[in-house]
Parts: sequence; C-alpha cells; structure tokens
Amino acid sequence: MSNFVTSNSGSLRGTIKVPGDKSISHRSIMLGSIADGVTRVSGFLEGEDSLATLNAFKEMGVNIERDGSSVVIHGVGMRGLKKPKNPLNLGNSGTSIRLMSGLLSAQEFDSELCGDESLSTRPMGRVIKPLREMGADISGNDSKPPLTIIGGKKLTAIEYTLPVASAQIKSCLLLAGLYSEGMTSIIENGISRDHTERMLKGFGYDVTTSNNKISVLGGGSLKGCNIEVPSDISSAAFFMVAGCISKNSSIILNSVNINPTRTGVIEILKLMGGNIQLLNQRLQAGELIADIKVSSSNLKGIQIPENLVPLAIDEFPVLFVAASCADGETVLTGAKELRVKESDRIQVMADGLNSLGIKNEVLEDGIRITGGEFTKQTSSILSHHDHRISMAFAIASVRSNFDIEIEGVDNVKTSFPNFVELANSIGMKIKQEG
Ligand code: S3P
Repeated sequence: MSNFVTSNSGSLRGTIKVPGDKSISHRSIMLGSIADGVTRVSGFLEGEDSLATLNAFKEMGVNIERDGSSVVIHGVGMRGLKKPKNPLNLGNSGTSIRLMSGLLSAQEFDSELCGDESLSTRPMGRVIKPLREMGADISGNDSKPPLTIIGGKKLTAIEYTLPVASAQIKSCLLLAGLYSEGMTSIIENGISRDHTERMLKGFGYDVTTSNNKISVLGGGSLKGCNIEVPSDISSAAFFMVAGCISKNSSIILNSVNINPTRTGVIEILKLMGGNIQLLNQRLQAGELIADIKVSSSNLKGIQIPENLVPLAIDEFPVLFVAASCADGETVLTGAKELRVKESDRIQVMADGLNSLGIKNEVLEDGIRITGGEFTKQTSSILSHHDHRISMAFAIASVRSNFDIEIEGVDNVKTSFPNFVELANSIGMKIKQEG
C-alpha cells in the first residue's frame, strides 16, 4: 500500500494536459468491439479502470492493439463476442460492470463479472431489476457483484424511468436495447452524462432524444470509426480547485471535455467566485472541448443548487476541499449517490476534513462545511482506497502549513496514472511512498 506525503507549495503555474476521459475511453472499447470494421482511438486513458474494460473484451476474443494511448480495435460485429474462459475481473470499475452487464445479458453465452473489494460492495440491483424486466437472466450476490449472467435469452424492449440520475444505468439499458426487440426508451428525471448516446451516433446508430426520453431501436449495427478522446474534466477538476485556492497562481488545462452534462464543477466553482475562463472552445469527435484557465480566487461558501449535482457527481471530493478554503458555509444536499461510489464519499471526506480541523456536519444526502484554516488533528488521512479521495486531499496541501499524509493511494492509477507528475510539474509538492 502506498501513501502520499504532500507539502505546502508556493504559487502554481503552468500549462498541462490531463489524461483522456474515463467514460469515453470505456465506451470506445465497448462500441468498437461490437462494431463492424476497425475503430482507432487516440488519447485513450491508460488507467486501470479503462484497461479492465479493454482486457475484458480481449478475453471475449476481440483483437485489440494498444500502443500507449493509441488503441486499434478490430470489431467483431454485434454477434461476434466469444464466451470468456474465466470470470471477467473488472477491478475497481463500476462503469465497466454496469455497462457490460447490459451488453452481456444479450449474448448467447454465459458470463460472470466480478471486481475488487470496493466494487464487490456496490449496488447492482439498479441494473439487475430493469434487465430482468427485459428478459435477462442476471443475478448478483445480494444484488452486489459478482454478477452471473445466463446467455441465450431473447430481450424485449422496455420503457424505463431511471430511479436515480445515472448514466451507468441508462447506458447499460441502451446497450441491452441494441439487441432487444422493439424500441427501448429511458426516461431521465435528472440529466446524466450523454457520452453513450453521442458515441452510438458516431458509430452510425440512430438514437433519438426528445426532452428527457432517450430511445434506441434494437437490431441495428455499428460501423467502426475514429475517436479522439478529450481530456477528462473529472481529472482536470483537481487542478481547477488547486488553482482557485492557491495564492498567485495561474494554470491552463488544455483540451478538456466540456460536454454540458459534465460541467457542474465549473458552474459550482464560478458560483463560489472561482476565476475560471473557457478559452478556444471547439468540437472534437462530437464533444465540446476548451482550454481552461484557472487563477487564484477568493472563494465564498454557497448552497449548491441540486440540479448541478448529477453534472458534478465525481467532483464533490475536491469541491469539498474548495468549500473548506472558502469564506463561510457551503451546503450540499440531494447527493445521496455519493454514499455508493468507490467509498461513502460523504462520510470519508467528512472524516478527512475532521483530521484537518475543518468544521462540518454530515447530512443524510450531503454535507455542510464551514471554511477555515487547516489545523493538524491527526497524523494521516485515510483514503479508503478511493482514488478521488486521495487526490482531493493532495490538493488540500496547497493551503496547508503542515505536511499531509494520505494513506492508501494506489487506486489513483484507476483514473489518473500521472497525477503526481503533473501536479509537481505546476509546483505542487507530492511524494508517493511505499
Ligand atoms: C459514469 C457515470 C457516473 C460516474 C462514474 C462514470 C459513466 O456514475 O460517477 O464515475 O461513465 O457512465 P452514475 O451514472 O452511477 O452516477
């Protein structure tokens, strides 16, 4: 198990490019594999999560060549996947297991999907229930992984209203819908990321979106294409907060995906008074990207609008650090989903903030944080092996007068393998030990 030891840094300066978007990287492998013809991906995230998806499709007989972040997928067509010899191990990745459960429920062969200790505690009833309604034979261990899927079932389209704003449930059902008889429709009550819909269109598959209803007609096919993965806004978010909370700082984050279903972090930081500019906005492979300039800011506490919660769902750990450095109180509600991510991100962040002497109150569906100075209460912070918790507390070090030690940071590799290198290149002081 390795730890971060982080020291206070001076001003942060520089231009950096964070790695490729995790959600888009996963989807490029899944859709590229079941497409006809070749799909070439550049900027693929070389993180453990997206590599778990890549390896799983290799185990189902897909020829995938990878040279760093360049990937070539030789698609096998809608019916070309082969039964894997062993259970598919998806590591820490919720996106892999939930999306693939939809795809695999529609195959002729049986499969088993499993993962690490954290993934094995995550709720899968949210995909099991609607997939069963479509005719799938899928079961879990008390609705948690490992998941067992019996193949050879004929799926029928359903219309399904999502119980929570979740792109993973939506995408799981859209993938199952590609193989189902009839029109599968998903109704969303809150906006969730729309990368699956965009990418399906890029592969030539018709997806209709009308208001909050997304539909696909089963029985079509996908055509291989080229995908240039933009930088991940969820990784960029760490440096957006670092730039806002450190003194005399100015950072540019190049070519970041600013898909409107993902920009909650920018909107929330701006509401807090963050100095953030979007430069050179342009389109890249169907996704809007921009260079993001962030400078030192005097942040103030806010009540976070609940409609922004799904648009910033992965960014709350580091937004809590921003709230700790803001004047006054920040209140988050309507964010119960944070309790079932890679860790219970409300409780684990609250515990870590307590270690830094930041006053907070845990709510059932959120948290109340009063900004203040960091004062050392304990020697180290426990990440609970959650990558985003580890990185969030590393960012806190830019405002700390003492070293912060964060325990159990190995999982940073799942989403942001060169985090330490990039952070130190703009002036942060992070050492990874052990
Ligand atoms: C993801 C969707 C989100 C997010 C996860 C990636 C995706 O999960 O937290 O990191 O790629 O579809 P939910 O859809 O369950 O909120």
